Amino acid sequence: MTERVLTGITTSGTPHLGNYVGAIRPAIAASRQPGVESFLFLADYHALIKCDDPARIERSRLEIAATWLAAGLDPAQVTFYRQSDIPETPELSWLLTCVTAKGQMNRAHAYKAAVDANTAAGEEADAHITMGLFSYPILMAADILLFNAHRVPVGRDQVQHIEMARDVAQRFNHLFGAGRELFVLPQAEVDESVETLPGLDGRKMSKSYDNTVPLFEGGARGLKDAIARIVTDSRLPGEPKEAEGSSLVMLHDAFATPEQRLALRNELRDGLGWGEAKQRVVSLIESHLAPMRERYAELMASPAHIEAILQEGARKARAVATPFLAELRRAVGLRPMVAVPGAALALTPVTGRVPAPPVFKQYREADGRFFFKLAAADGAVLLQSTGLADGREAGAWVRRFKTEGAAALEGAPVQLLADALTVHAALAALVAAQDA
Ligand code: TRP
Repeated sequence: MTERVLTGITTSGTPHLGNYVGAIRPAIAASRQPGVESFLFLADYHALIKCDDPARIERSRLEIAATWLAAGLDPAQVTFYRQSDIPETPELSWLLTCVTAKGQMNRAHAYKAAVDANTAAGEEADAHITMGLFSYPILMAADILLFNAHRVPVGRDQVQHIEMARDVAQRFNHLFGAGRELFVLPQAEVDESVETLPGLDGRKMSKSYDNTVPLFEGGARGLKDAIARIVTDSRLPGEPKEAEGSSLVMLHDAFATPEQRLALRNELRDGLGWGEAKQRVVSLIESHLAPMRERYAELMASPAHIEAILQEGARKARAVATPFLAELRRAVGLRPMVAVPGAALALTPVTGRVPAPPVFKQYREADGRFFFKLAAADGAVLLQSTGLADGREAGAWVRRFKTEGAAALEGAPVQLLADALTVHAALAALVAAQDA
């Protein structure tokens, strides 16, 4: 069985070296593993929670998409998309909102931190806090559950959100699954080894500490200038130096082979100057980044190309999301109108009888191709498929129509032989007959 691995990248800001080593590089490596189906998306709805500057939102989406592609993400191998291109995500977010306990959201770290900051500042507890921030974990749960992801690689600060997604998934399964597990319960995955890339001042590299090394912005010069600013101890050239605990050495190690790591340690012990060590680190990192930076520049110059890649990603993602959301809607009771059992006024339908549902017929022509058609109870053909090479494909479409009704029409290899209203009504009756 293939495992689904999904992660989102909030599109606020410009990627730095810590993002590359901690998230981008491992996610791309993981996406190349056999047996793994990767879903990677730009969390631009989440970005709106933190940022109300449209120009920055726009720029960050482009930069982050270009960064991932330049770093080697193969859009043919993974599903790479924008959250905001998937309307099923906010729709599911609402279904989940309706079964999420407010008390649990009160305990979300990001919200609590904002409340604590307000209280400390003598302000009202909820001052400046939007419903977007408050509901952040629910939107994130929708991202994950919509694709039934098994594993979700994230930073430590996001683990609580994955636990909330599990909780809400469990609750939804219990309420609406009718014994079935509608949602897979996702597992957070924190990679301890890559979490600790230090910034210029030795603290974790983070935009909020203003201690980042740029990834592509500023070019080779920007990299060199940033590394020149790394804090080292005051030992002079010729004095033996301790490699452990040095930010410079940790940055080096994030790109070095085991042999290179050992060599640098030996030379530092033998008195290599920090200035020279910095030059060595710059050229090592530059040898990794230079080819990517060139691709990045090309990509940034052709946003239409990136747009096309993301549109294709959205198409792939929605091929999963659209039928699944249709199933979830049915599960909560958002279904085509049919006579409701027990409703007083529905005892006698207006026509005096319950119309018989239409039927699908599957058959094979002499040329070997497979067909299906939908016929009304009176024999009138409502839908006619084109010829398909694979009988299983025909079967899969019929099953989709039986569960999704008219929602399956989009992209289906069929021609409507009756007016749209008749076809939709017939498909609704068909779905209702399955549920009954
Ligand atoms: N909240 C995540 C972060 O800031 C980004 C994100 C949004 C995400 N949706 C997700 C991560 C779904 C994993 C899965 O890092």
